Amino acid sequence: MTRPFHLGWFLQGSSVQAWGEPWTGAIGRDWMVPELFTDMARALERACFDYVLIEDSSYVGESYGGSREVYLTHGLAVPRQDPAVTATLMAAATKRIGIVPTFATFTHPPYLLARMIASMDQASSGRIGWNMVTGSSDYAAKNYGFMDGLPEHDLRYDMADEYMQVVNGLWDSWEPGALVANTETGVLVDHTKVHTVDFQGKWYSCRGPLNSGPCPQGRPVIAQAGGSPRGRQFASQYADTIVASIKGTAAMKAYRDDVRARAAAMGRNPDEIKVLFLVTPILGDSQEEAELRQKQKAARAEAQLPILLAFFGKITNIDFANYDLDAPVDTLDLKTNGHQATLDDFKKSVGSKSLRQAMLSYRGTSGSVPLVGTPDSVAARMGEVMEEVGGDGFLISTNDVSRRAVAEVADGLVPALQARGLARKAYGYEQFRDNLREF
Ligand SMILES: Cc1cc2nc3c(=O)[nH]c(=O)nc-3n(C[C@H](O)[C@H](O)[C@H](O)COP(=O)(O)O)c2cc1C
Repeated sequence: MTRPFHLGWFLQGSSVQAWGEPWTGAIGRDWMVPELFTDMARALERACFDYVLIEDSSYVGESYGGSREVYLTHGLAVPRQDPAVTATLMAAATKRIGIVPTFATFTHPPYLLARMIASMDQASSGRIGWNMVTGSSDYAAKNYGFMDGLPEHDLRYDMADEYMQVVNGLWDSWEPGALVANTETGVLVDHTKVHTVDFQGKWYSCRGPLNSGPCPQGRPVIAQAGGSPRGRQFASQYADTIVASIKGTAAMKAYRDDVRARAAAMGRNPDEIKVLFLVTPILGDSQEEAELRQKQKAARAEAQLPILLAFFGKITNIDFANYDLDAPVDTLDLKTNGHQATLDDFKKSVGSKSLRQAMLSYRGTSGSVPLVGTPDSVAARMGEVMEEVGGDGFLISTNDVSRRAVAEVADGLVPALQARGLARKAYGYEQFRDNLREF
């Protein structure tokens, strides 16, 4: 039986500028005005996406050659705005789609984050998610005034466990029914239903209660992308949706089975976690046109090798300018305190290829499975992949967020998925989590 699956959009910082990609001339000027983002949110809502996830980091890259030059010259995830602003604008322009800004645990004290997210959940009538990340760069850590660098990778997740206790406590500090608004008795809020948190932990402390009032959803939708064993454990404990970039259907299935088993072992219903896999479809009016666009994309990547290396170096903190491009990757001792799972996936998938070839092939098939073809053939392939993997959907990303790229998905691919019964044609509910759990 054909079942619909879930759709998210990954609004990557690099796709906002996408400098050098065709059709992005207008973006070079438009990134600062809200219509680029609000038009996008409306298009994705028209296509009944579950959510748009706004990726973030909070520093200008300088891992490549110890310089900011390549990042600024080519607009590699810079300039970028605070996701709280983009998310609020998107929420105001829409009625049903979920909006998921990214905030890192080290950039916001728990009270600040819980209050901001609760305010956004109210302003969006229950459509806010939080992409919960622990950070990956010492450069970012240095921007906040109280750290010289990030704590070690697994320790960051231990701290995040405590962080979750605090923010969940704050979101729960208003019992259901606390907001009375009874004009006859004159009571706005039942003070017996609003409580302090009085949390005193190893890393965080907080008194509470939250003064913003409650989230319409109770707690916001939590998105997470833990890939390492410790990261998966964390994600399966807290996440409503997990986003993953895992190469190939067998590995995708294994990843999903693993996080579901971990969730079940902790007493959670695994069906309440939706795992969405990152894909970058390349669409054309015919198969030939789509393949031509894929070749053109590969040729652009080849001409931009330092940019690819600089970008990969930003999330792994590795200075690839110091490496011999012809050295086989498995002879290089590549290690990171940043996105460990991503680096492991890269090493596994490229094996003994030279660094040059490895980077080109890794970026050439960015995402979990290659999707190249007409809207209808790509829709069919997505259906097959979901059958093999077991669920729960895809997180779509394009190299750029030009209006053309968004329309190709929202008005080309999604109708083809809908025609096959693989995507919803209308939202079932008003709030984000309810739509996520609809199927
Ligand atoms: C689809 C996807 C989106 C992500 N978005 C962000 C982000 O916006 N900001 C960030 O700092 N990390 C982001 N990450 C990195 C993850 O939070 C995580 O660090 C990474 O998947 C590696 O997992 P690990 O830290 O458990 O090794 C993302 C990862 C994936 C796969």
